[in-house]
Amino acid sequence: MGKLDGKSAIVTGASSGIGLATARTLAREGAAVVLAGRTLQPMVDAAAQISQAGGKAFPRVADVRDEKQVRAMVDYAVQQGGGLHVMVNNAGVNRFDNVLDGSVDAWREMFEVNVIGLLIGCREAARVMKEQGSGHIVNVTSVSARSVEPGNAAYAASKHAADAISEALRRALLEHNIRVTNILPGAVLTNLARHMPQEQLFALARMFGIDPDQVGVQPGQHLPPEILERVGQATASVLLKPEDVAEAVLYAVCQPETVHVNEVVVRPARLLPLSFMSP
Ligand SMILES: NC(=O)c1ccc[n+]([C@@H]2O[C@H](COP(=O)([O-])OP(=O)(O)OC[C@H]3O[C@@H](n4cnc5c(N)ncnc54)[C@H](OP(=O)(O)O)[C@@H]3O)[C@@H](O)[C@H]2O)c1
Repeated sequence: MGKLDGKSAIVTGASSGIGLATARTLAREGAAVVLAGRTLQPMVDAAAQISQAGGKAFPRVADVRDEKQVRAMVDYAVQQGGGLHVMVNNAGVNRFDNVLDGSVDAWREMFEVNVIGLLIGCREAARVMKEQGSGHIVNVTSVSARSVEPGNAAYAASKHAADAISEALRRALLEHNIRVTNILPGAVLTNLARHMPQEQLFALARMFGIDPDQVGVQPGQHLPPEILERVGQATASVLLKPEDVAEAVLYAVCQPETVHVNEVVVRPARLLPLSFMSP
């Protein structure tokens, strides 16, 4: 018997990294999970694997910046799962951009996905959870909501904003029996690194013994899975695995109703000695 049997969940940003691992983990524990994101194929593949293992999973293309798509996604989850018990607002981007010579497009994208997208996800989940009389909203923010590096101002600002939204929402939803948890990961080995400036991405690859030219690392594109695996083996103590964060989400949503886990900070054992890698 799973810890989430009979529950329904949505995970945004489930085509990759932390979201994909979280969707798999919640499904493993019996939840019917909608995997939501912009890139369909990895979600279709994951849903097929979850179904083969006896779980329930439903891939759904949705851009979290689009309120109509998010509303339709929430209604779809209610139809498929008989309600919405867990909403994981995880979709996020990091353009590794600073203030002094940063780009407005990159700042705008980070705020639209990490802040507006999260606001829409919270509002739409709360809409159905209030009617239901219970629910749990989990927002994946970052340790960048607490500490700021010079090269990561806009991303950190977006995560500070997400933290503030969760705090306000927690108070607003207390009387509706809806819990709100922030998950604050440190550095995690995922595709988030794909938007690093090329020289930093390549320097990082070389630091871990990988020649980026030979393996075809392309800034802006998902990293080849074998590269993620090779880097993972070399970096276990400085980078978390997506599954480590997924287990923190599971912990938060499996507590008794009287226990509110407001936030979980999950860090690797040691810090990467690179300021531009601030997550
Ligand atoms: N990796 C870290 O070190 C780290 C640390 C702290 C916090 N976080 C946070 O963890 C969350 C997940 O990131 P990750 O590390 O797992 O990175 P990732 O592997 O790049 O995954 C990000 C996910 O978000 C999706 N996404 C981006 N924009 C979207 C949009 N507009 N609508 C819907 N989905 C969208 C991506 O889908 P597409 O690829 O299809 O665009 C992808 O599935 C983010 O909020 C990130 O800020 C990450």
